[in-house]
Amino acid sequence: MADHRPLLRVRALAKRFGDNQVLRGIDLDVARGERVAVLGASGSGKSTLLRCLNFMEIPDAGTLELDGVALGRAGAGGAREYREAELVPVRQRVGMVFQQFNLFPHMTALGNVMEGPRVVRRMPEAEARGRALAELARVGLAEKADAYPAHLSGGQKQRVAIARALAMDPEVLLFDEPTSSLDPELVGEVLGTIQSLAREGRTMLLVTHELGFAYHVATRVLFLADGRILEQGTPDEVLKAPREQRTRAFIARHQEFRL
Ligand SMILES: Nc1ncnc2c1ncn2[C@@H]1O[C@H](COP(=O)(O)OP(=O)(O)OP(=O)(O)O)[C@@H](O)[C@H]1O
Ligand SMILES: [Mg+2]
Repeated sequence: MADHRPLLRVRALAKRFGDNQVLRGIDLDVARGERVAVLGASGSGKSTLLRCLNFMEIPDAGTLELDGVALGRAGAGGAREYREAELVPVRQRVGMVFQQFNLFPHMTALGNVMEGPRVVRRMPEAEARGRALAELARVGLAEKADAYPAHLSGGQKQRVAIARALAMDPEVLLFDEPTSSLDPELVGEVLGTIQSLAREGRTMLLVTHELGFAYHVATRVLFLADGRILEQGTPDEVLKAPREQRTRAFIARHQEFRL
């Protein structure tokens, strides 16, 4: 590929909640097709980082470029200012899948997946329906199109949520612990879906405690601590030969991890 410009370029990203300085300067480039696993202890800011990347949280400082275009503009005191109108398309280009699915309970699987294309992208009904059915088929749920979330298993709900994110044609997919609220026997089907998206060459950032999965699917692993990237490298480097004591301790705590 001739284009070496990162799809996502993050510099000095900072975010605090009250006195709690959660992110203290994150520098991160993500190339097209990269799959970045984000690890770190509970409370280390993994979700906050992902939420800043699609502006569900507005960063306090730092810059974010999407495909070479800097977002926001320089504002007072060094912080950047963002207009809501600018952020709406960014949230489409950087799609997110949550631990708790966040499906609309009063809509069918199809309705959930159609909603973004219909409302945000103003797609005609028939086209949005076709698109949604195609994405449900991609995650293996074509036959559940008319089911309501209450009648779906956790794994199926999460796959609908993935289809919903895909229906917006995102350039980057953010997964925030997509299997953490699932019963163990349902984890595999969701990881399988993510794996197939990886095979399609999708660009993704994935927060997960499934270290074995991260090892096999990620092209790069980051370990967050104290609001910074403490360590990063290939899965072999970070997961098999971590340099930092805290990374080693984290991996040791995940006893189920067997490479
Ligand atoms: N909206 C918010 N308001 C106030 N504090 C917040 C908010 N969101 C996160 N925090 C705080 O920021 C810190 C980082 O939270 P975050 O959810 O990013 O951590 P995490 O690494 O995703 O943790 P976990 O592994 O438990 O999901 C925590 O101390 C949390 O309490
Ligand atoms: Mg989190």
